[in-house]
Amino acid sequence: TYAPVPAKEDFLGCLMKEIPARLLYAKSSPDYPTVLAQTIRNSRWSTQQNVKPLYIITPTNASHIQSAVVCGRRHGVRLRVRSGGHDYEGLSYRSEKPETFAVVDLNKMRAVVVDGYARTAWVESGAQLGELYYAIAKNSPVLAFPAGVCPSIGVGGNFAGGGFGMLLRKYGIAAENVIDVKVVDPDGKLLDKSSMSADHFWAVRGGGGESFGIVVSWQVKLMPVPPTVTVFKIPKTVQEGAVDLVNKWQLVGPALPGDLMIRVIAAGNTATFEALYLGTCKTLTPLMSSQFPELGMNPYHCNEMPWIKSVPFIHLGKQAGLDDLLNRNNTFKPFAEYKSDYVYQPFPKPVWEQIFGWLAKPGAGIMIMDPYGATISATPEAATPFPHRQGVLFNIQYVNYWFAEPAGAAPLQWSKDIYNFMEPYVSKNPRQAYANYRDIDLGRNEVVNDISTYSSGKVWGEKYFKSNFQRLAITKGKVDPQDYFRNEQSIPPLIEKY
Ligand code: FDA
Repeated sequence: TYAPVPAKEDFLGCLMKEIPARLLYAKSSPDYPTVLAQTIRNSRWSTQQNVKPLYIITPTNASHIQSAVVCGRRHGVRLRVRSGGHDYEGLSYRSEKPETFAVVDLNKMRAVVVDGYARTAWVESGAQLGELYYAIAKNSPVLAFPAGVCPSIGVGGNFAGGGFGMLLRKYGIAAENVIDVKVVDPDGKLLDKSSMSADHFWAVRGGGGESFGIVVSWQVKLMPVPPTVTVFKIPKTVQEGAVDLVNKWQLVGPALPGDLMIRVIAAGNTATFEALYLGTCKTLTPLMSSQFPELGMNPYHCNEMPWIKSVPFIHLGKQAGLDDLLNRNNTFKPFAEYKSDYVYQPFPKPVWEQIFGWLAKPGAGIMIMDPYGATISATPEAATPFPHRQGVLFNIQYVNYWFAEPAGAAPLQWSKDIYNFMEPYVSKNPRQAYANYRDIDLGRNEVVNDISTYSSGKVWGEKYFKSNFQRLAITKGKVDPQDYFRNEQSIPPLIEKY
C-alpha cells in the first residue's frame, strides 16, 4: 500500500516533511541525551551498553504520530512508543539487540478533558496518572479513576497493560474502565472504537503496550467516591506479631467489602498495612474491629481526607501534597529489578516466617502485596486481556533497588533466589505474572523471517495473559500481520488457518 521509495529520500527527510524540526531529535542533536533520559526511571537502562534510538520524535498531535508510522514503514525503521517511561525493562526506549529504531515520545501530549456531567474524561497517553487524577478532582471532589499508585506513571503504558492501584477492589483495573480510544494503526490510520474491530478494541485495553498500535488518547468512565475517605498505615515488626498478622491478612484482605483495600508492604522485619477506605473513620473502626481485630486499628490511626489527597499520601506519606501529583522531575532513578506472582492458596504460616528470613538477607528487596477479591475478581477472565481474576487472593511484587551499577550483584541474586523459593506456593501452569510488571526473564520473542514467532511468545505470554494470549495473537495477526510494532515482549501475530 506504500509508494515505492525514491532513492534519495530517507527516514528523517520523510519525517521533516510532516513534522516540525523542533519536535525531532537525532542522536547528534545536543538535546538528545536530555530528552532520552527525561523519563528513564530505571538507571540500568541508561548506561552505555543499551541500544538507543536513532531518533526521538516528540509529537504534539495525532497527525505527527501518523506521519511517523508512515515514514517508519516506508523506510524500514521500527518505532517504539514511550508515554511515561516506567517500563521495568526499558523496552519503550531501548532494544536488547542492535536495531535501527526511533522512539515516539508522547511527553508533549498530555491533555486531560473532564466532562463532569457525563462522568467521563479524555486523557492523552503522555499524561502522567497524577495529572489525570488532579484534573478529575479539580472538576469534582467525588469522582475518581482506578489506575496505578505512583503518580508519575504514564497513562499510555499503564492503561495498555491493565493498571491497578488502591481502587482495584472497588472498581477493578484502568483498562476495563476505558470506553473509547484513539489509536494509530500500522498503516498510519487513526482509528477509534467505531472504526476498529471489536477484537482490536479489546486488545488495546490490557493486552500490553506497543503491540496493537500507538494509542493517542483514552476515554474513561469516572467513578464515584465519597467526599471523605480514610487512610491508615500501620507498621508491625516481626517482634510485634507481623507473621501472625500477614497470615491472617491473606484470608481477610481479599474477603473485605470492596470499599476497603488493605495492602501490605513487607520490608526488613516489618509489614506495613496500608489502607484506603471509601468512607469515614466512624464506620471503618467498627469494620476493622469485627474483621481484623488482631491489627489493633483504632481512630488514632485514621487520616480523613478527600480522595485526591489520599493518592500522594499513600504513595509518599503524610508530608506529600497535590504538587507531587504534577511533578514531572522525579529525581528518584534507582537501578531496579522487579518480579511478580499471583497467589491462590494461603501460605502456611512457616512460609511467612521464611519470607521474613528472606527479607533480612543481604541484597534483600521488598514485597508489595495487593489483595484482590471484590470487583477485580468478579470480572470474567475473557472480558479484558488481563486474566488474573476469580480465586486470586493477592498479587506480589518483588522490588529491589540499588544506587550504583556495581552494587547490583547481591540484589539481582536475591531476586532470583526468592522467586525460586516462592515457586511451590504461588500460581502454577502457568506461573502468572502481571504484564505491567514486565520481566524479561519470563521469556523473549524469537524473530524468524522478520516475524516474532507465536511459540516463543507463548512462553512469556501465557504467564501475563493465560488463555487470552491466543486471542491477542490472532488479533495481532489481523491488525499487524507484518509485525511492525514489536519489541522483545510484544504479542506475536498468529495467522489463523481456515
Ligand atoms: P512506558 O512509556 O515505558 O511504556 C510501557 C510499555 O507500553 C512499552 O512497551 C511502551 O512501548 C508501551 N506504550 C507506552 N505508551 C504507549 C501508547 N501510547 N500506545 C501503545 N503502547 C504504549 N503499575 C500498576 O498497575 N500499578 C502501580 O501502582 C504501579 N506502580 C509503579 C511504580 C513505579 C515506580 C514504576 C516504575 C512502575 C509502576 N507500575 C505500576 C508499572 C507501570 O504500570 C508500567 O511500567 C507501565 O507500563 C508504565 O507505563 P508508562 O507509560 O510510564 O511506560
